[in-house]
Amino acid sequence: MIYLNGKFIPIEEAVIPVLDRGFIFGDGVYEVIPVYSRLPFRVGGHLERLQASLDSIRLDNPHTESEWRQLLASLIERNEPEDQSLYLQITRGVAKRDHAFPENTIPTVFIMSNPLILPTSDQIENGVSAITAPDNRWSRCDVKSTALLPNVLLRQLAVDAGCTETLLLRDGLLTEGSATNAFVIRDGIILTPPKSNLMLPGITYDLVLELAAANGVAYEVRNIAEAELISADEIWITSSSKEVLPVTTLNGNLVGSGHPGPVFKRMHGLYQDYKVQVMRTATA
Ligand code: PDD
Repeated sequence: MIYLNGKFIPIEEAVIPVLDRGFIFGDGVYEVIPVYSRLPFRVGGHLERLQASLDSIRLDNPHTESEWRQLLASLIERNEPEDQSLYLQITRGVAKRDHAFPENTIPTVFIMSNPLILPTSDQIENGVSAITAPDNRWSRCDVKSTALLPNVLLRQLAVDAGCTETLLLRDGLLTEGSATNAFVIRDGIILTPPKSNLMLPGITYDLVLELAAANGVAYEVRNIAEAELISADEIWITSSSKEVLPVTTLNGNLVGSGHPGPVFKRMHGLYQDYKVQVMRTATA
């Protein structure tokens, strides 16, 4: 079951008009929210970022925060898996094709649930491979826009190379992955780029830094040069579906020992413990 413009319906019955500006222009924003044991994870952060994305594209939020929470809860209830991945998208609606904003158009609101596919135990135990590529996206990568063609092309470079992710470099500095944020570990310290218009402010990124701070794991938010990435002891990628995942091969070379490192193992443990604690508190 999905949600489309006020109705819960089977996905096979969900259709949108071809003039939807999401289809014509990629004129919309989205969120991906993981659900563990039927509870949406860090939903406050996701709804806050959704509001920021909507503000950036000058589209009024069609729902209040409590309406969103209600809609998400209803959709979770209507779908079977205990662990789900919620995808929600808002577009500027259906209008005659013209680049300028249409007047009095009702936004399209779509939410779907898919089973949450988490990294496999092999990926967690052995890590994944990545490549680097120039970050050729626009300069508003902080907006979670559905216009993802550059990200699609960059991600495909990784797939073509038999890898999981493409790490992006702009002016010699690491920005993020094609669909993940990036962390580098050097001399036991977690390093990650500062939030800016050049990367998506990840919900998982925030959580990793929060867990590091709360547990006395050293970290520094600062720019990371390509040379520091290439010679890192550990590299991680993070996202709502990948959680925290170690990259053990970069551009065909081993990262550190070529195995997930000690700082990853610590953070992975903290992350899993945090999830259990959140679920316990919610059901207590
Ligand atoms: N992608 N950077 C980019 C470019 C992303 O697309 C994503 C998430 C992230 C990580 O953000 P978060 O931790 O909030 O998931 C960083 C989602 C999962 C997607 O497009 O499917």
